[in-house]
Amino acid sequence: MSDNFKMIAKTFFGFEDILANELLKLGAQKIEKGLRNVTYFGDKGFLYKSNLSLRTALKILKPILEFRFIDIDDYYKQINNFNWESLMDVDSSFVINSVVFHSKIFNNSKYASLKAKDAIVDRFRDKFKSRPDINSNNPDLKIEIHVNRNLCTVSLDSSGESLHKRGYKKFNSIAPLNEVLAAGVILMSEWDKNSDFLDPMCGTGTILIEAAMIARNIAPNLNRSFFAFEKWKDWDENLFELVEKSVLNKIIEFDHKFYGFDISNSMIKKAEKNIEISQVDVDIEVFTKDFLKSSKDDNDDLFIIINPPYDKRISADVKILYKSIGDTLKNNYQFSNVWLITANLEAIKSIGLKASKRIKLFNANLESRLLNYEIYPGTKKNKK
Ligand SMILES: C[S@@+](CC[C@H](N)C(=O)[O-])C[C@H]1O[C@@H](n2cnc3c(N)ncnc32)[C@H](O)[C@@H]1O
Repeated sequence: MSDNFKMIAKTFFGFEDILANELLKLGAQKIEKGLRNVTYFGDKGFLYKSNLSLRTALKILKPILEFRFIDIDDYYKQINNFNWESLMDVDSSFVINSVVFHSKIFNNSKYASLKAKDAIVDRFRDKFKSRPDINSNNPDLKIEIHVNRNLCTVSLDSSGESLHKRGYKKFNSIAPLNEVLAAGVILMSEWDKNSDFLDPMCGTGTILIEAAMIARNIAPNLNRSFFAFEKWKDWDENLFELVEKSVLNKIIEFDHKFYGFDISNSMIKKAEKNIEISQVDVDIEVFTKDFLKSSKDDNDDLFIIINPPYDKRISADVKILYKSIGDTLKNNYQFSNVWLITANLEAIKSIGLKASKRIKLFNANLESRLLNYEIYPGTKKNKK
């Protein structure tokens, strides 16, 4: 217990509940939801485990210093007083990213970073006559500063590159779904895993791969090549390997099948390669196929997640496409539980089906909707 410390997992707007639930299942303590983040407590092993296992976190921060300040000198002094040599050596490198909200003292975040950098560098110079360098691309320590009014929180970024970079998406497209968003959508859909799974517009395969990892309880970042904590002074490789082993032991078998369609042959080729790299090792088949000309040929339950094109510039075409998607689902996909994610709020009106659930999300900066359509004969109560 005594080795426990606070961590902050950052996420997308609307994913706070899902992330808190993931943390609860993982064994986090004192979980508290914020806006686009969830804070919790755990030890170093749990920091490693959260980075490996959380599907809906973008980054895990470890706060190291929190203080109120009255002016810039005070801000500088409090950062300068921190024991930075416990985290870095003179020949280490670091980078600082800041965000500033409602501050009368800092009118831009770059200045907050600059002053903090001076405070750290001056401390090393005074003590050791030498200083660590700034390295934006590949630093030994990534520092995040969050200023809200006169409250400053200084954290270490334990993840490095955003955690959506799982390592399997080597073949991309112009409109891929972010991996964290895809995983969050699947978790929100509460898929019961008792049926086959179809992504009929699968693009590069993100939803299929994330769903397969969820089905097999495979931690999403097991194949990631690097986490920022590996460069920390307290990096414990043996502990990391133990955590990795315990995570690997939780993988389960999954017997249902995954299918993906895309009208573009080149997309299907990319999806095939990404699936191969992901090593999910489940039955995933992808086909070059027009979903609008396809149908389901049995009365078995099918779970569908669909992420159609949402281009707003050609809105007339998109309206026709969304109407056809609605018609195809209604006429050819009976006994399906369908979730659709799109950033084209106008085109949704053309689907012509009544959504039983509507959830507001953001895909990058685009306001989006996640909609649920239950395509069963008669009412939902009569569902097979
Ligand atoms: C927004 S993208 C999907 C992105 C995907 N979720 C990913 O992560 O890469 C929409 C995809 O729908 C495909 N598409 C468009 N019309 C289609 C149709 N009638 N049948 C099947 N796929 C279609 C496009 O080729 C495109 O790859």
